[in-house]
Amino acid sequence: MAEKPGVIAAIGAVAANGMLGLDNWLPWDIPEELAYFERTVEGAALVIGRATYESMDVVPADSFVVSRNPALSLRPGCRRVATVEAGLRGALATGKPVFVIGGASVYAAAWRYCQVFYLTRIERDFAGDTLFPADIPLAEWRLTDERHACYRERKSGEIVGCRFLRYEQPVPRPVPTAD
Ligand SMILES: NC(=O)c1ccc[n+]([C@@H]2O[C@H](COP(=O)([O-])OP(=O)(O)OC[C@H]3O[C@@H](n4cnc5c(N)ncnc54)[C@H](OP(=O)(O)O)[C@@H]3O)[C@@H](O)[C@H]2O)c1
Repeated sequence: MAEKPGVIAAIGAVAANGMLGLDNWLPWDIPEELAYFERTVEGAALVIGRATYESMDVVPADSFVVSRNPALSLRPGCRRVATVEAGLRGALATGKPVFVIGGASVYAAAWRYCQVFYLTRIERDFAGDTLFPADIPLAEWRLTDERHACYRERKSGEIVGCRFLRYEQPVPRPVPTAD
C-alpha cells in the first residue's frame, strides 16, 4: 500500500507533449508503467471519472465513479457520485487510502484536495485526444521522490524513458463536508 489511510493522492501519466489519453485509453502501451500504477493503488479506494471507468476491464471494490447521470449502471462494489467532492468523502469514509485515478476532468476538479500526486512523465510525444490539465501547479509542490527507468513501448517498439515522480502539495484544500 503506497499511502496511509486517510491520505488523498492522485496518480497519472503524461507524455512530453501533455497528452494522457487516446480513444478512451492510454496513448502508449508500456506494461511496466501500468504495473506501477496497479501496485501503487492496490488496496485503495478509487475516485474515477465515468469515461475512465468505462475503459477499465477490472475495477476494484470501493470505487467511486463520478458522473452526472443518475441512471448510470455500475459493476458491483462501485458507487456513482455526482461530484468529485462526494467521491472523495465516500472514499475517505472507507478508511482506506484514497487515489484519484483520472481522467483529465477529474484531475482538474480534484487536485486541490490532494496531498500527494504520483506523476509519471513519459519522455516522448504521443498522439492523443486528451490533455493533462495544464493548470495543476505541480511545479509549486514539493518533489519527494524521483526514479527513472527505460522501457520498450509496445506500439512503436521504441525505448522510452519514464520518470516516476511523487509530489506533495504544501496546503491541500479540505474536502467540503457537503456539496
Ligand atoms: N494517462 C493517465 O494516467 C490516465 C489516467 C486516467 C485516464 N486517462 C485517459 O483519460 C481519458 C479520459 O479522460 P476524460 O477527462 O475524457 O474523462 P473522465 O474524467 O474519465 O470522465 C469524464 C466524465 O466523468 C464525469 N465527470 C467528470 N468530472 C465531473 C465533475 N466535476 N462532476 C460530475 N461529473 C464529472 C462526467 O460523466 P458523465 O458524462 O457520465 O456525467 C464526464 O463526462 C481516457 O483516454 C483515459 O484513458 C489517462
